[in-house]
Amino acid sequence: MRNVIIAGNWKMYKDLSATSELVEGLKTRLASVPPRVTVVVCPPFTSLAAAGSMLKGSTMKLGAQNMSQHDEGAYTGEISWNMIRSAGCEYVILGHSERRQYFGEKDELINAKAKKALASSLKPIICVGETLAEREGGITDRVITAQVKGVLAGLTRSDMSSVVIAYEPVWAIGTGKTATPAQAQEVHQLIRKLISQMHDWPLAEQTVIQYGGSVKPDNAAELLSQNDIDGALVGGACLKADSFAAIVNAVK
Ligand code: PGA
Repeated sequence: MRNVIIAGNWKMYKDLSATSELVEGLKTRLASVPPRVTVVVCPPFTSLAAAGSMLKGSTMKLGAQNMSQHDEGAYTGEISWNMIRSAGCEYVILGHSERRQYFGEKDELINAKAKKALASSLKPIICVGETLAEREGGITDRVITAQVKGVLAGLTRSDMSSVVIAYEPVWAIGTGKTATPAQAQEVHQLIRKLISQMHDWPLAEQTVIQYGGSVKPDNAAELLSQNDIDGALVGGACLKADSFAAIVNAVK
């Protein structure tokens, strides 16, 4: 049975005091989770160190929402792998659709960031997903294939064992519209097939592929029961301890 990873992407929410409140709430509610479930919280950069020290000794992991492809240097406003690692991160979300849409990130850059993360012992959660126009235009498979091949280009088999993929249809993010479990399953299956073509089946079989896009306590169980859905990347519903914990507890 594959591992399940439930990650909360806090986006640009929560200052330091709201961070302590949410992390405390999660620690109380998620004091014990089944061993095959990993819970990751991804607060904004300014809250990473604080959340990192609060999470010490808990089973929850810390992730960042982005990082630079460079080691260090004159890159105003950027954050390096070393900075997020020293704050306690084990994971980093890369290529989220909001980074693609508002900050012009392309597969090639996301691939460079993924390579940097892996070389730095960080586990990248790499996002892919089609827009509404692409889905309605009947080119979802083509778009996902190009993104998966682009973001994973040149990664070795051993790199891949640390990679998490998040399928997030752009039209389902923050809109309240969720892909139906069948729609999500279909794309997850495609992604797994693509990984098997780039590497092999045993590797594809063990790769964790999360679904993201309006995951809520009331739809989580059904999504997570699909064969190829191995977790969730949660936005809106991770901002309250009760709803995020309910999603984690929906894992069977
Ligand atoms: P949402 O966001 O759950 O608010 O739709 C998901 C995401 O952007 O990762």
